[in-house]
Amino acid sequence: MKNTIKLRAALFLSMTIAMSNGVGAAGLPNGKAIYDSTCVACHSTGAAGAPKLGDSGAWAPRIKTGPVALYATATKGKGAMPARGGNADLSDAEVHAAVNYIISQSEPGAKGTAPKASKAFAADTVKQAALAPVAAEPAGPAAGGATAPGTNVNTFNRLMRPPAQRNLPPPEDGIHDPANDGTHSLQPPLTAFAPLAKSNDGNRVDWVKSLNDDKINPRYDRNDPNVKPMVMDMNIVREVKGSMPDVVYPHKQHTQWLDCSNCHPAIFIPQKGANQISMAAILLGQKCGVCHGKVAFPVSDCRRCHSKSKPLPVKAEAKP
Ligand code: HEC
Ligand code: HEC
Ligand code: HEC
Ligand code: HEC
Repeated sequence: MKNTIKLRAALFLSMTIAMSNGVGAAGLPNGKAIYDSTCVACHSTGAAGAPKLGDSGAWAPRIKTGPVALYATATKGKGAMPARGGNADLSDAEVHAAVNYIISQSEPGAKGTAPKASKAFAADTVKQAALAPVAAEPAGPAAGGATAPGTNVNTFNRLMRPPAQRNLPPPEDGIHDPANDGTHSLQPPLTAFAPLAKSNDGNRVDWVKSLNDDKINPRYDRNDPNVKPMVMDMNIVREVKGSMPDVVYPHKQHTQWLDCSNCHPAIFIPQKGANQISMAAILLGQKCGVCHGKVAFPVSDCRRCHSKSKPLPVKAEAKP
């Protein structure tokens, strides 16, 4: 149990960002309902120069300032916008939920910019949610694609999604139930990830760099905020046959998040060369694949593991 708790560090981290709005068991603020009652007057019409819901061009520069800044201006007011949209009875959490809802509808790739595709997709996900309410992966869109014209056949493959379809807001990501009110109060990942270092793979965040740049500060121990990780800087080079660069396994980048016991001895015997590792095993979710492709960057990012180039082949043999 202890192992799995620590192992969750990376996953837990992205979830806490995604759910920083405090999803309590009861009294969940419903962003859409609050928007519809208080904010809609200005933000649906553009009255007083308010940026319109779904107008991603008007919202993009604001969303870039980060959710915390937007929560602050929405709470305190800005220009022609009154504090809390003029409804002093709204709690901070309710204002935040309404802001989250606005962002989820207004960020690039959200409803406003591609209404048709999104609607088809949302309809799909509703169907899916009805069929398989506990499905953890958006396995359905592939099948749904057949019934929804214009849906990309590759949407089932998260690695092949075009940028506008990555890290979609919760109501449209195919994982959350769009019919559930709670979904609309979750913070959209694009907003949460915006200030973090970028990567080309996985969820498009370079978590190692984000950690080193102090952009994130994950708690090492779930129960104790003061526990610090025991970081060990030791690289292990695994030579690879053929032309692929050798693999450098870095203890440093792992022990910044993980406990020795997450890997030793259940996944790896702590002795250089004692473990048989192959790409086949990794792709099957064993060895490095226990985490990579699940809670750490995926196998498609070859050069991040295969980072040590080999010396060029000896020329003497080719030229007698
Ligand atoms: C009386 C009209 C009005 C109402 C009601 C209103 N807004 Fe606004 N809102 C505006 C205007 C105008 C701006 C643009 C302010 C500016 O940039 O000077 C704005 C901007 C914003 C921004 C962007 C702030 C920024 O830092 O760029 C957010 C977020 C926001 N509103 C959220 C809300 C929420 C949430 C509600 C409902 C609880 C709401 N608004 C209700 C008029 C309104
Ligand atoms: C993410 C997984 C992971 C974590 C966490 C981890 N290790 Fe390792 N460790 C490895 C791998 C992989 C090897 C290489 C095994 C091989 O080459 O067969 C290794 C090798 C070792 C070795 C053998 C070195 C040698 O030269 O023979 C020692 C000792 C070791 N680890 C200690 C630790 C300690 C102490 C910690 C915690 C501070 C730790 N490891 C955390 C994966 C991990
Ligand atoms: C999470 C780290 C990681 C990633 C990402 C990764 N590899 Fe590997 N790869 C390894 C390890 C570890 C080995 C085993 C090295 C050894 O023999 O000890 C390996 C071995 C290999 C081998 C040798 C044959 C075999 O199957 O063992 C090839 C070829 C290879 N990788 C190709 C790739 C390609 C192509 C990609 C990108 C699509 C890739 N790898 C991505 C870690 C990784
Ligand atoms: C117990 C989980 C776990 C295992 C097993 C694991 N990793 Fe990782 N690895 C992580 C996490 C978490 C990170 C940091 C988050 C991220 O980069 O996605 C990471 C980061 C890395 C990095 C750092 C990349 C950088 O930018 O500095 C490399 C390289 C790497 N892993 C290679 C490997 C290889 C090779 C293996 C197998 C020998 C392996 N990992 C096994 C969880 C694991």
